[in-house]
Amino acid sequence: MELIIQGNVAKNCHPEGLRLGIDKQINYVESHGEIYGPRKVLVIGASSGYGLASRIAVAFGGDADTIGVSFEKSPGEKGMGSAGWYNNIFFRRRAHEKGLIAKNFIADAFSDTTRNDVIAYIKQEFGGSIDLLVYSVASGVRICPDGTRYTSTLGVRGQAFSGPGFDLETRKMVNQTLEPVTERQLADTVKVMGGEDWQRWIDMLSAAGVLAEGFKTVAYSYTGPKSTWPLYKEGALGAAKAHLHATADHLDAQLQRINGHAYAVVCKALVTKASAFIPMFPLYITLLYKVMKQKRLHETCIEQMHRLMLNHLYPPMGNVITDDERRIRLDDFELRPDVQQAVELLRKRVTTENFKTIGDFAGYLTEFYALNGFSMPDVDYSSELDLRQLVKEYS
Ligand code: NAI
Ligand code: NA
Repeated sequence: MELIIQGNVAKNCHPEGLRLGIDKQINYVESHGEIYGPRKVLVIGASSGYGLASRIAVAFGGDADTIGVSFEKSPGEKGMGSAGWYNNIFFRRRAHEKGLIAKNFIADAFSDTTRNDVIAYIKQEFGGSIDLLVYSVASGVRICPDGTRYTSTLGVRGQAFSGPGFDLETRKMVNQTLEPVTERQLADTVKVMGGEDWQRWIDMLSAAGVLAEGFKTVAYSYTGPKSTWPLYKEGALGAAKAHLHATADHLDAQLQRINGHAYAVVCKALVTKASAFIPMFPLYITLLYKVMKQKRLHETCIEQMHRLMLNHLYPPMGNVITDDERRIRLDDFELRPDVQQAVELLRKRVTTENFKTIGDFAGYLTEFYALNGFSMPDVDYSSELDLRQLVKEYS
């Protein structure tokens, strides 16, 4: 059985490989410094990427009970289900073995019904409050509580921006273009990927009285080096992230009442389902991986989230560590001048012929496959999976 890729989107997954992927992340945090942090954690966007890694870090690097909200498909008539579906199940199994609460809500994070369900669960079965909320949703669509549907657009402000990128399906380098967004598209992208929904979670949880004294909340952001600004920071996504940063400051003030804090966390660029989707960005990631691996600075989601919890958000001594703008920076290694200089040198030399070797294309592929349970050592991929069996075991 093989991973099927269409465009830059994976179409299937392998449960056994996903299970091993969860185990691998758990092993990492269990052997890298105990987190004396939160005990009751809610993760919105918990089934993959940064959200999943956050959940693993607090549960297995520390001892947190967790609630995870995510939007995933179960195996059934329409196919074998999504990777995140299995991640939720394998996470829960390991957490239960450890004696931790691990509750999965497969539900739309943008809906008030979901928020009310989660609040009821916190009150009835989760001890009545939470002390950390991680907001890690990546989505192209948001249906607001008033029923309006917004879609985000990957695009630039000002002039169209073109450059080399690669297509995962054909494994060829292609020229990619980000078109300028309209004012409307820009505003809608901010609606989907900005801070409004995060704010609404905090407002409703706060009104329900389920935020513990000293409560913290984080949401994930990206800034990147100058070379990526036209396609990210200065584009529609960047506008959404700027809104998210402003929301963090607003929430921080609002949470003072309970000695709480809110932070935007600027993360490193890495391979996830969401980042594979951004034109030209994966090529930058291959160059970055090459350099960071050479300098032994490479991190994936789990290293980043472990470092976030251990050093920045719950430091053994002193205050939460931020930059001048009150943001937590996990992109410090990515943005190191020596790293970016080396990336720039590689970038100038990229051609359609050499792009697979000049950057860490193999490493990119391995991680992309692993997100879906493929390319894991010790998994037998030779046989096909039995859908009926999957439904029986996992739905
Ligand atoms: P991901 O695609 O791996 O995870 C997204 C999560 O959101 C999944 O758990 C998915 O089920 C959930 N989700 C999507 N729509 C939902 C909905 N309507 N209701 C409930 N759950 C929903 O993405 P990734 O990369 O982990 O992104 C998380 C955050 O990290 C995003 O804000 C992203 O911008 C940010 N980030 C990502 C970076 C990267 O290079 N991958 C770098 C810096 C920040
Ligand atoms: Na996530």
